[in-house]
Amino acid sequence: MSDFYENVLDVLRLDERFFADDGSFLRNAVYEAAMQMDSDLLHLLLSNAETQNRFFKKVDGVQVFDKVGFGWVINNRQFLPDSYTRFKNKIGLADISGNFISQSGNVELVFPYKECVLEGGQTKEDQNRKEVFYNETLAPDEVDRLLNPKVLVNQKKYGTTSENAEVDGYLIRGNNLLAISSLLTKYTGKIKCIYLDPPYDTGSDSFGYNDSFNRSTWLTFMKNRLEIAKKLLSPDGAIYVQLDYHQVHYAKVLMDEIFGEENFQREIIWRIGWLSGYKTADNNWIRNHDTILFYSKDANRLKFNKYYIPKEEFKEIAKSNAERYPIEDVWNGNEYDDLNSIAIVSFSGETVSKMLNRDDEVKGQKSEKLIERIIKAHTEPGDIVLDFFGGTGTTAAVALKTGRRFIICEQLDKHVDIMIRRLNKVIDGEQSGISKKNNWTGGGSFIYCELATLNQSLADQIQSASEDEELKGIYSRMVKSGFISCKVDPAEIDLNCNEWTDLTFEDKQRFLMGLLDKNLLYVNYCDIDDEEFSISEQDKAFTRSFYGEV
Ligand SMILES: C[S@@+](CC[C@H](N)C(=O)[O-])C[C@H]1O[C@@H](n2cnc3c(N)ncnc32)[C@H](O)[C@@H]1O
Repeated sequence: MSDFYENVLDVLRLDERFFADDGSFLRNAVYEAAMQMDSDLLHLLLSNAETQNRFFKKVDGVQVFDKVGFGWVINNRQFLPDSYTRFKNKIGLADISGNFISQSGNVELVFPYKECVLEGGQTKEDQNRKEVFYNETLAPDEVDRLLNPKVLVNQKKYGTTSENAEVDGYLIRGNNLLAISSLLTKYTGKIKCIYLDPPYDTGSDSFGYNDSFNRSTWLTFMKNRLEIAKKLLSPDGAIYVQLDYHQVHYAKVLMDEIFGEENFQREIIWRIGWLSGYKTADNNWIRNHDTILFYSKDANRLKFNKYYIPKEEFKEIAKSNAERYPIEDVWNGNEYDDLNSIAIVSFSGETVSKMLNRDDEVKGQKSEKLIERIIKAHTEPGDIVLDFFGGTGTTAAVALKTGRRFIICEQLDKHVDIMIRRLNKVIDGEQSGISKKNNWTGGGSFIYCELATLNQSLADQIQSASEDEELKGIYSRMVKSGFISCKVDPAEIDLNCNEWTDLTFEDKQRFLMGLLDKNLLYVNYCDIDDEEFSISEQDKAFTRSFYGEV
């Protein structure tokens, strides 16, 4: 490494955020700090004559930071060619200019592989560990292929409908970006209401984030999905996104951009419930609300069924004799509006751990009443609602109980399993949540299906591997199966060389993930008849009927 690069490294070494506990350099952390014009980083770079000279330009007496130039240096292959980069560059995962593919300007999508199922929580100990690799970026032509409609398999019908009757809903298992882009063929402009309860990006919610799932990643993750959601919405439709203080203000700006400021309708403050015990401990104003952003597709055509809280539903503490009360944009915030979190009123039997088994729990399960309020404001019986962060299936349960149709996506096996058991109970007429209010006695039906996976299983194997030999075995399966990126020439890869051996285990995993052809994670509908993919006749027939082609 040249003296210049050595010097940059020495300067950066003064900030412990940029190095892992084992002393290795956290390139992405530095890059991220530079892009955000982090003042501590700028201060450091200004404090050294060489870095000041190289990365700052004096304009009218003011030092202006050249963040593009700095970013380029940080990501340049000559700078700190750590073992991973050296190995990766050697086999050509950099583009022809020698830049990382993932850093190149034509990148626009966060690779949708299990973005939310990152390992580990963000505990103190986790903060300094090495960056992980699950988020990747793709070039536009790859994005197009990735978002092609997918083949759907393993369908199973639940409920009471006869063989040919239309079902009330679909539950699609798989990555929601691919699931909703598959919906575009048939459902563009057809969805009346979308309710989304995405990961809040709290750093400690049920998904177990790690530090690589940072704000910009979260925003890209949401942007990719909201753009498709907008296309699916009907002209009179509405979308609600439930968040908390971690991301809501950034999400507001993002949604203004996607839906247009004129389509911003309300910022709903949902007061979670009364406070007791440890929740009161903070020496500050106690946090006690979520924010729900409500946008229309077209403000001039928005359908809104206004309704009032009837007297019999007022809170017990209500003193007024009013017959009814309008619903404000602060929910559960006055003496009439009774909408406490189900975590607080768990005795109601609505939480899945009460309704199903004690071990069944999905953090963040919402109350049926909350979602009923949203759905009823924008739909009539028979209309379709969409929720692609399905969780325990509250939106589906509400749709069934109120006669709406639904499409739900969920990627985690555990949550899919809970949702199916819950919905079967709903179909059998269970009486928690909004059942009594809606005279629910059971009935209804839905179809479960999955996005057909291909080398997704290889990706799963890479991530769950724990030993070198396993990785080698996976690599030879990858080469044999041909699911290897066309940017890579297997003849140039030697897993017995010292450079491979020198990589950390995590870098080895990251490397193999980089070799996988992301467009072969799932089977595209246009390839349904390709014998290589062995799609059964039954699955073909189902997929065609799903896309309305039979
Ligand atoms: C907060 S929970 C939703 C809870 C739900 N509203 C309820 O009442 O049960 C968010 C859900 O989104 C799912 N999820 C997150 N990212 C996803 C993705 N990329 N594709 C599909 N599902 C995803 C998670 O597995 C989780 O079950």
